[in-house]
Amino acid sequence: MSTKGFFIVIEGIDGTGKSTQARRLGDWLVSRGREVVLSREPTDGPWGTKLRESAATGRLSPEAELEYFLKDRRQHVEELIAPSLAAGKVVILDRYYFSTMAYQGARGIDPQEIRRKNEAFAPQPDLLLIIDLDVDSALTRIGARGDTANEFEKRENLERCREIFLSLGEEPFARVVPSHGTLDEVASELRKVVSEMI
Ligand code: TYD
Repeated sequence: MSTKGFFIVIEGIDGTGKSTQARRLGDWLVSRGREVVLSREPTDGPWGTKLRESAATGRLSPEAELEYFLKDRRQHVEELIAPSLAAGKVVILDRYYFSTMAYQGARGIDPQEIRRKNEAFAPQPDLLLIIDLDVDSALTRIGARGDTANEFEKRENLERCREIFLSLGEEPFARVVPSHGTLDEVASELRKVVSEMI
């Protein structure tokens, strides 16, 4: 394994198990002697906290939401991501600007415009792992059946997000990993992809 910093981003719609997989991948890399920084977006900083609160108290407009995610990310890049990579660590993120393309894109903002705004300051990862799951299975895992108005809206929204994530699978630095298998199977597939690159 090299000792240069390496930047891994894990993405996917809600219910794909990305947070568990991010943790397991981190533990595995630590066991292989790497220094790992595991983080997530939205962060626990001031802008991320506002975003999490707004999810409970009534959503912001798409434009305000985008603005808050950009502010949260700018701080995350400056304070944690860039310095950790410069110090040779492996950074693993549970969500990054591809989630903004998917989720704020699903709310009507052009995903390519979102991408441009982010890439003006946010470094591209070395590896983007997109954990893919069909929306029916994802809704089952998050305890929704899609038969109330709210859940129907959630279903449509997740369908659009999934499409945007899958379109990112074309990027040379991206891999789509299906998550139909067990947690162990998905974890082992992710380790395989990472060990080929790191
Ligand atoms: P999530 O990782 O699901 O956090 P939790 O486990 O606390 O629920 O992220 C919270 C929500 O934020 C999720 O529905 C996706 C959304 N999100 C965006 O809409 N845009 C973004 O840029 C990011 C990073 C997340």
